[in-house]
Amino acid sequence: MNSYVNSVNFFGGNNPEELAEKYGTPLYVYNEDIIRKHMRAVAGVISKYPYTANYSIKANTNIHILKLALEEGINCDAMSPGEITMLLKAGFPTERIFFVPNNVSEEELEFAAKQGVNTGVITSLDSLSQLETFGKILPGHKCAVRINPGVGAGHHEKVVTAGKKTKFGIQESDIDQIFEIAKKYDLTIAGINQHIGSGFLDPEPYLKAVSNLLRIARRFENLEFIDFGGGYGIPYHKLNDEAEFPMESFKVALEPILDEFVKDYGRAPLFKSEPGRYCVAEGSVILGRVYATKENSGVSYVGTDIGMNVLVRPSMYGSWHDIEVLRNGSVVERKDLKPVTVTGNICESGDILCADRELPEMQKGDLVCLLDAGAYGYSMCSSYNSRPRPAEIMITSDGGVKLIRRRETIEDLMRLF
Ligand code: LLP
Repeated sequence: MNSYVNSVNFFGGNNPEELAEKYGTPLYVYNEDIIRKHMRAVAGVISKYPYTANYSIKANTNIHILKLALEEGINCDAMSPGEITMLLKAGFPTERIFFVPNNVSEEELEFAAKQGVNTGVITSLDSLSQLETFGKILPGHKCAVRINPGVGAGHHEKVVTAGKKTKFGIQESDIDQIFEIAKKYDLTIAGINQHIGSGFLDPEPYLKAVSNLLRIARRFENLEFIDFGGGYGIPYHKLNDEAEFPMESFKVALEPILDEFVKDYGRAPLFKSEPGRYCVAEGSVILGRVYATKENSGVSYVGTDIGMNVLVRPSMYGSWHDIEVLRNGSVVERKDLKPVTVTGNICESGDILCADRELPEMQKGDLVCLLDAGAYGYSMCSSYNSRPRPAEIMITSDGGVKLIRRRETIEDLMRLF
């Protein structure tokens, strides 16, 4: 593919140079239609049985994106009281929020349970120790438990969240103790969940983990729901025509696994999934300005304002994000490519967006357009080097432009002193 932004009309007819001038750089630009399309795709993963997708909001918590999930009728999962608060503010009722924390305090568990009416936000406990704490402070309550299905997957070892090397979930050999603790505190285990990891394009490990979780689920009576977790990847190498997550064949492969379980269990509980990245990643690009170019010991550097404070994924995981070069508002054709190292403006040598990447020659004043930044982009931003966080704008379905978060200011950074 020569240009992603052109092929999907990412800017909806708006001139990216004008957007960069008006809102400043670095700038997160979202496309409403692309995000809605992906949310609809996850909403359709299971159609034969009761099913809901939970958008995992740690990928992107902008309230305007949460509202898209609300409108698309999908539910959400939250990792912290902060995320629960944002979901409530976006208009989600408590029953559409699932709390899947890790190592939280009694106050945080109580916070979730005391929201709304009845049981509050349902919480999943991911260790025997947290289940015991929950039972002590909220006896008689309903909750879920997170199981480690023994199979992990992900784009980097830091994001594999099941299998043998992870802090997450309760191992299968401890399941009897779940029942003992539940009995002791009169807890109802209404659901079980898992999450094997993040950013895989091969559905095989996920399918295997689904089978494992369903095998384990047979030991739990009266389950209201079973949540298979998220992790569906997206093609970060799209300019090299990398294939997408095979959603259609994945759905076909999933169905007989569910059929077999439903037959044995005698009924279908509510099935759930928990995708974050898949919903939002491809729906955002970052526009950054080229401020300097130089040669250093045979390496060509291009210096931009997209530092690791704006997007930490390349420096944290060595993640690849495709880059398009824009000049005077148009994409520079991908020919006469030369290896360049594109960096940010942060005081660390690891502040690198890509190393020795074949890109069209760049000049001072060009815009770099970094693709697939919608997931774990802004949500992992920092103000390192006292750089205020960027603004976020959304290209709406009618081609309009909406400022969905203003740029932070230095005064904002000073406010807490
Ligand atoms: N559910 C649970 C319990 C999770 O821990 C996660 C992600 C998700 C759902 C959503 O996973 P997704 O569908 O987005 O893959 N910062 C890393 C990704 C960390 C993911 C952590 N957990 C990155 O930038 O690649």
